[in-house]
Amino acid sequence: METGHISVLAKEVLTFLAPKPGGIYVDATFGAGGHSRAILNALGENGKLLALDRDPDAIIRGEKLVKLYPEHMTIKHTSFQTLGDTLIEWGEEQIDGILFDLGISSFQIDQPERGFSFRFDGPLDMRMDHSLSSNSKTAADLVNTMSERELIDIFFKYGEESRARKIARAIVCDREEKPFTTTAQLAQLAQRVIPNHKRAIHPATKIFQALRIAVNGELDQLQKGIDAAINALGNKGRLGVISFHSLEDRIVKQTFKKVTSHPQVTGPAALLPQAKLPSLPFRLLTKKPVIPCVEEMQHNPRSRSAKLRVLARA
Ligand SMILES: C[S@@+](CC[C@H](N)C(=O)[O-])C[C@H]1O[C@@H](n2cnc3c(N)ncnc32)[C@H](O)[C@@H]1O
Repeated sequence: METGHISVLAKEVLTFLAPKPGGIYVDATFGAGGHSRAILNALGENGKLLALDRDPDAIIRGEKLVKLYPEHMTIKHTSFQTLGDTLIEWGEEQIDGILFDLGISSFQIDQPERGFSFRFDGPLDMRMDHSLSSNSKTAADLVNTMSERELIDIFFKYGEESRARKIARAIVCDREEKPFTTTAQLAQLAQRVIPNHKRAIHPATKIFQALRIAVNGELDQLQKGIDAAINALGNKGRLGVISFHSLEDRIVKQTFKKVTSHPQVTGPAALLPQAKLPSLPFRLLTKKPVIPCVEEMQHNPRSRSAKLRVLARA
């Protein structure tokens, strides 16, 4: 079942990345290609776009777009964590604009067989890269083999789930009877362990988020990806990152802060008159994150938690 994907903050991304004719751009998370298409439309005769996605299904969708823009677009099945190597291979290392639109697309979440959603029953998979060459573990592998302590850590750290202990305990008990294989099994466990929930969200929301992050190594990959992207920005180049939860946003915010502020002088040196500080190589274009307007949130509820931060090489 495919319902399509609506690109988040599409207008704002174009305003901040300001793609120019003849420019060199990277869409690090192609997804359904909405942002890529908008960038391609602005590139003119000589511009180039490299699109990446670690999901082979997104690449199949992207190949249709490559046929429309054969001179301008290249697509590659890879993770953005190795962006530096990918750019060397592409032959462009000074990039005018790079976009990361994190998380998963509606195509992924709405397909029960991908196992991302507790709204549908499907295999407990959650791998973004489910190709044969990927040897990453599925969510079922983690749930069935990790120790109780490891599960608690994942649920606390990646789901900020306050009932991590209770849920991990129940998983370890249940799996002795029957290993977890489906999303419904795990969703039902969450409902059982957190009864009479008065939450606005489904009780399985946080553990599904936590498992997805763990299965895909998302936070580690994000750090590597944005570090590589910052390195690759050419003169006046811009990097935009759209995040969807506080764990992602924290990484983006702290990394951007590190490269746009002078290191603090501490100890006795702080008492000495400071020489004029050298100018910094990067500047923040968004002092506060850009969030969707009310109309966008109503039209596309998935956008509700989106935050866009943008950095530019000065
Ligand atoms: C929210 S969607 C992007 C939607 C896209 N901007 C659009 O307008 O259609 C996120 C995409 O990023 C991909 N993705 C997530 N982590 C990735 C990574 N480390 N490397 C490459 N792609 C990744 C996912 O597979 C998914 O297709």
